Amino acid sequence: MGIKLASSILSADFSRLGEEIRAVEKAGVDFIHVDIMDGHFVPNLTIGPAVVKSIRKITSLPFNVHLMINNPDEFIKPFADAGGDYITVHVEACKDLSKTIKDIKALGKKAGVAINPGTDISKLKQAYPNVDLILVMSVNPGFGGQEYIPHTLDKIKNIKKARDTLGLKFAIEVDGGIKVENIDKFSSAGADIIVSGSGIFHQKDYAAIIKKMKSIIG
Ligand code: DX5
Ligand code: ZN
Repeated sequence: MGIKLASSILSADFSRLGEEIRAVEKAGVDFIHVDIMDGHFVPNLTIGPAVVKSIRKITSLPFNVHLMINNPDEFIKPFADAGGDYITVHVEACKDLSKTIKDIKALGKKAGVAINPGTDISKLKQAYPNVDLILVMSVNPGFGGQEYIPHTLDKIKNIKKARDTLGLKFAIEVDGGIKVENIDKFSSAGADIIVSGSGIFHQKDYAAIIKKMKSIIG
């Protein structure tokens, strides 16, 4: 499996959300990354399950729902029902991570765990054997268009090392500050899925930029 590219719709033009998603799908992205923020876990607000349900109808691409919310357990089912394929919760927001992962899987969805730049990867240990995805945040979550934090590249490398030592198969996704100019750093570090928001949606020619990104990550 080659390295996959995900478009974060946080930086899309929300007045034309359907068209924006169709445009990146046509240009060849592999995932739609949907950022859910609650104004508590992060200092920003985005969308809820109703919007996810409505965009589910216009694309067949898998949805990677990134829950940047407190008490994620309350919202796993609504986002699963709305059409999320991967449901990713933050390790910092979970009271009983193993139970949350189990609950996501019981709904027939892939389970992801996200980790902030300031959180030590030892917090992920218990999750490794049960998750489908680890999401390494390369910025502090809350806003698109930030610069990536360099030490997060080591985090990707260390998580990959742990995965390979344990003989596990979960995917490693990375999110924040990734653009055509620096995407090679993240693919070389060992990411399997690379998210880009403003690096795609704030560019003039989506098709050209996506093609270039995909050719770099192989
Ligand atoms: C940040 C979000 C990211 C964001 C990435 O809190 O989780 O998914 O949309 O945007 P860029 O690629 O612009 O940093
Ligand atoms: Zn995200």
